[in-house]
Amino acid sequence: MKRVLITGALGQLGSEIALELRRILGVNKVVLTDIRDDVNTALVEEGPFYRFDIRDGGQLAEIAREHRIDTVYHLAALLSATAEKDPRLAWDLNLNGLVQVLEVAREMELAVFTPSSIGAFGPATPKNWTPQDTLQRPTSIYGVTKVAGELLCDYYHHRYGVDTRGVRYPGLISNRTPPGGGTTDYAVDIYYQAILRGRYRCFLKGDTYLDMMYMPDAVRAAIEVMDADPALLRHRNAFNVTAMSFCPEEQAGYIRRYIPDFEIEYEVDPVRQSIANSWPNSLEDYAARVEWGWKPRYDLDTMTRDMLDALSRRLEEARYVWLDER
Ligand code: NAD
Ligand code: SER
Repeated sequence: MKRVLITGALGQLGSEIALELRRILGVNKVVLTDIRDDVNTALVEEGPFYRFDIRDGGQLAEIAREHRIDTVYHLAALLSATAEKDPRLAWDLNLNGLVQVLEVAREMELAVFTPSSIGAFGPATPKNWTPQDTLQRPTSIYGVTKVAGELLCDYYHHRYGVDTRGVRYPGLISNRTPPGGGTTDYAVDIYYQAILRGRYRCFLKGDTYLDMMYMPDAVRAAIEVMDADPALLRHRNAFNVTAMSFCPEEQAGYIRRYIPDFEIEYEVDPVRQSIANSWPNSLEDYAARVEWGWKPRYDLDTMTRDMLDALSRRLEEARYVWLDER
């Protein structure tokens, strides 16, 4: 991996992978692309950036050729809650966007990282310690696109020899870029509201368990799986990876260790609750550990401490900027 192109680079995951890869490879060797350019403007201005719709494969090929790209991180997609509002768009973006990337990769011999998700599982999947290889009958359109995407990436590997790889991420928690409309977004927002208001109204029931991961681990997983020795990979796309499993009530308890008066209340959103109910409580990630040495570094306690520290600093800086501008 020497010259990388990232699609969906200004989103929650893309903005962090972009920062880390630009740190490792150098700014000009990491080309960012997204359909928008009005967020994360520091990333847009710092190095090569192109605004276009990923469903336009022609432009992707042109940029990849110009920058002599060897690896694509394909992150442009609709997340679960947004996808449920417009299933046709979700199908179009999540699958036709992926096909464009895979076709360019086939023609130009590029490696491709595509994330799948806990959303690729459904109510018939074993709920606890969900195995790597198991029943996948998701009931959300997001999940349908994720399973199809996993299969498509496997197909391009065995049919055309494209070096496709990926992981099934759990909910990702971070403090740089807000999440883009998923079912696990509550687990990020809760930290912002704890600092700003000391209370949070949660859209999932208090005892809803889901797998989660802190962003530094997620970024490392994305880089380590692409660096792994291909001879050791029995799986390729859709490795289960996880770091922790908790429910809102438990997360609130950990926040109270640092903000004792923090309060949580519940106003359940039936759509997101039903998506969450269809997903596993906790994943088993043995294949990733054995095949490429995956190991998370953060648990709920260390993540909570780090999130509250980092967010307090960021929100304080933002307040000063806001006051300065007045
Ligand atoms: P996000 O919504 O934060 O970012 C997606 C980015 O794609 C946005 O910047 C958006 O502007 C861009 N985009 C949307 N439509 C586009 C188009 N037509 N052409 C080009 N760009 C377009 O999402 P994210 O959380 O960063 O997710 C990235 C990937 O990781 C997705 O495949 C998602 O399914 C997967 N994933 C994320 C999580 C999570 O918790 N964030 C968990 C599991 C899997
Ligand atoms: N965090 C993502 C979502 O909720 C999981 O893929 O959509």
